[in-house]
Amino acid sequence: MKKHLKDIKRIQYSVDKSNYNYILDQSERTIHFPAFQKFLQTLNQEDFLLYPSTDNFKSKISKHFGVRTNEIFLCPGSEIGIKSVIEAFTDGGRVISSDPSFPMYKIYSELYQCEFFGIPHEKDYTISMEKILSNITHETELIILANPNSPMGEYKSVDEIRILLEQGVPTLIDEAYIEFTNKDSVQWLMHEYPNLMVLRTFSKAYGAGGCRVGMVFSNPNNIEILSKFRQCYEVTNVSIKWCEFLMDNYEYVDSYVQDTIQEKKKLISLMKNFDIIDSNLSWIHFNNEIDNADTIRIFDKHKVLAKFCTLPKFYYDVPHDDRKNWCRLGIQPNITNQQFIKELL
Ligand SMILES: Cc1ncc(COP(=O)(O)O)c(C=O)c1O
Repeated sequence: MKKHLKDIKRIQYSVDKSNYNYILDQSERTIHFPAFQKFLQTLNQEDFLLYPSTDNFKSKISKHFGVRTNEIFLCPGSEIGIKSVIEAFTDGGRVISSDPSFPMYKIYSELYQCEFFGIPHEKDYTISMEKILSNITHETELIILANPNSPMGEYKSVDEIRILLEQGVPTLIDEAYIEFTNKDSVQWLMHEYPNLMVLRTFSKAYGAGGCRVGMVFSNPNNIEILSKFRQCYEVTNVSIKWCEFLMDNYEYVDSYVQDTIQEKKKLISLMKNFDIIDSNLSWIHFNNEIDNADTIRIFDKHKVLAKFCTLPKFYYDVPHDDRKNWCRLGIQPNITNQQFIKELL
């Protein structure tokens, strides 16, 4: 066994979601698609018997997302895109990201024996661009920034991303939640900056977390390098069909996203008695004077699955919120009409 693996801890997040009436912990879509029965009729035995071919799927992705087919690296979930980027673009140097951020950035960096350097959040839960820039060293091989950032939800503008790209370090902008910002992807910058890679997923706004389909978009040169780590068959036939169905029926995706955004606004306006941290993501953090004791009771009663956590700590010795049970609540359309929210308010 490789010696460094001894110190790498993996936590398996495993919850039996069939025990819950509301699944609001991982930004999964839980509202059913209206035309699902119609989709099922498109499946056939060959989808299960034969190895998948991805050419037509890539053409569809190309048209839908506005990239060329040779600018697409397909992967079984965008988290494997992260792994492949670290595999292909690092050689034991520094990987800069934010802290906290999506945990797999750190785990894959450590698995590939890189120094993971997480920039701590500022007091207002933003990540300082100056601090990212001042921590770029000769050893820095990769920058990974989620935009909007997870879990606190800051969004960096195109101009700020440009400043980062100007440094010339390979940079992965993870846009797993970009649809919830109603802003455009920065993928078009890849024609200007050869060091830019953009990560997209079908798991969040598209509602296909169970299908495991993600993509890295970059210039053909980077895609060729990444493709050395391509899995033999990246995605299944059934996943391809479901994601094609979603692209063909994008109005279902978009209306879900717009409803989620509106509903988040409405919920925040109703939660006057709570401390709330809004985000550019599909969730909020909230707490109250009794550290959400009543929230936990109401959520248990109505079988609501959400995350309870502390807020990120700062490096500096500043007074900080010590409450242990900030609720990270995923928002879904019509949430404000649910009984558990009415009882909470
Ligand atoms: C910021 C971010 N990036 C990437 C991922 C990976 O998503 P997936 O592998 O389902 O595409 C997640 C999952 O939660 C995430 O939060």
